[in-house]
Amino acid sequence: MSGKALKILVLPGDGIGPEVTREAIRVLEWTAQREGANLELEEAAIGGTCLEAHGVPLQEETLAKGRGADAVLLGAVGGPQWDNLPHEKRPEQALLKMRSGLELFANLRPAKIFGALTESSTLKMEVIDGIDLMVVRELTGGIYFGQPQGVESRDGERVGFNTLVYSESEIRRVAERAFEIARVRRNKVTSVDKANVLTSSQLWRETVTEVAKNYSDVELDHLYVDNCAMQLVRYPAQFDVIVTGNLFGDILSDEAAMLTGSIGMLPSASIGALTNSWERPLGLYEPVHGSAPDIAGEGKANPLATILSVAMLWRYSCGQEGAAQAIEAAVEKVLAEGQRTADLGGGSGAVSTEEMGEAVLRALENA
Ligand code: IPM
Ligand code: MG
Repeated sequence: MSGKALKILVLPGDGIGPEVTREAIRVLEWTAQREGANLELEEAAIGGTCLEAHGVPLQEETLAKGRGADAVLLGAVGGPQWDNLPHEKRPEQALLKMRSGLELFANLRPAKIFGALTESSTLKMEVIDGIDLMVVRELTGGIYFGQPQGVESRDGERVGFNTLVYSESEIRRVAERAFEIARVRRNKVTSVDKANVLTSSQLWRETVTEVAKNYSDVELDHLYVDNCAMQLVRYPAQFDVIVTGNLFGDILSDEAAMLTGSIGMLPSASIGALTNSWERPLGLYEPVHGSAPDIAGEGKANPLATILSVAMLWRYSCGQEGAAQAIEAAVEKVLAEGQRTADLGGGSGAVSTEEMGEAVLRALENA
C-alpha cells in the first residue's frame, strides 16, 4: 500500500468539535505513516460555524469534496445560539444533508464496555457485564426524510405531519450490511420494528426475513421497539447486532450508548452506496457525543470517541484492520494506565484533551 493516497475531508464543526478532531488527526497522521499511506487532509466548515461564515450550515461544494474523498472525519455540530433558527438553517440540517448527499445509508454505532471503565455505568455490574453490541441504524430514509412532511392549516388549526416510508430496496441494503457485520462478530442479528402497529414495519420484518435466507450462518430474531428498549436495560449482553430504522435507531443507539456510562468513548461510522479509491465504502466517521458547548475551548473534552472513530475509518473505509486494532489497543492501554479526562471521572487529576491525545500516541509508539 506504500504511497497510496488517503484523502480525508475534515469537518471539525462546533463546540468541542475542533479540539477533539485535532487529537484524532494526530492519531490518523501517525497511523497513516505506519501504514505507508499518503495522507491528504482537506478541511471545511460545517454546522453553526459554517452558518456564521457562509450563511448556510453546509455548502454544496463541501458535499462535492466529500464525494471526492476516501472518508470524512467530523467533530460535532450545534450550539444554543443556533437553536431557535428556522428549520433549514439549523446545524443539524448539515448532518442530514451529508447523510443523504453521500448516500450514507448504514450508521454503525458500537456500544462496548471498556474494562477500566465499568464503574462509569449507572447500571449494576451484573447487568452491564459483557456488553458488546452494534446498532446498525438506517440513516437516509424513514420518517426523517419521508415526504410529505410539513405544518399546514386544516379546519382552522395547524397540523404537523411526517411520513414513515421504507422501500424494499432501502430495507434490504441496510439489512445486508447488518448480516455482514454479524458474520465477523457473533453471528446474531436482532431486527427491531413496530410491526404490531405500523404497516411499514410489517414490510421491514418481511424483507429482513427474506434477506436472512442468504445468511444461514447468522441467527435472526425480531423484537418490537418498546420491548427492545426494555431488553437493553434488562439484559444487554444478549445483543450482538441490532438493525433498525432511522428514528428507532436514533433512540436505541443513545440508550445503548448510555449503558456503557461513557458516551465520551463511543465512535460511529456512516457508510453506504459509494465506493472510494480503496475499493471500500466511502464513510463518515464521528463521535456519538455532541458539541458540548458548555466546555468548548477549555481543553476538558474527551477526544477518545473521535480517536476511536479513526479506528473505524481504517476498518470500514480502508480495510486496514491492523491500524484499527492498534488504535483500539492504544485506547484500552491509556485507560488501563488510569488516564482520565474530566467526563471519565478524572477529578482533580484529570488530563486535558491534548494530554489524552498524547497518551494515545505514546501507547501507539510503545506497542
Ligand atoms: C444523531 C443525532 C442526529 C439525528 C440529529 C443531531 C440530527 O441525534 O446523530 O443521532 O437525529 O440523527
Ligand atoms: Mg441521536
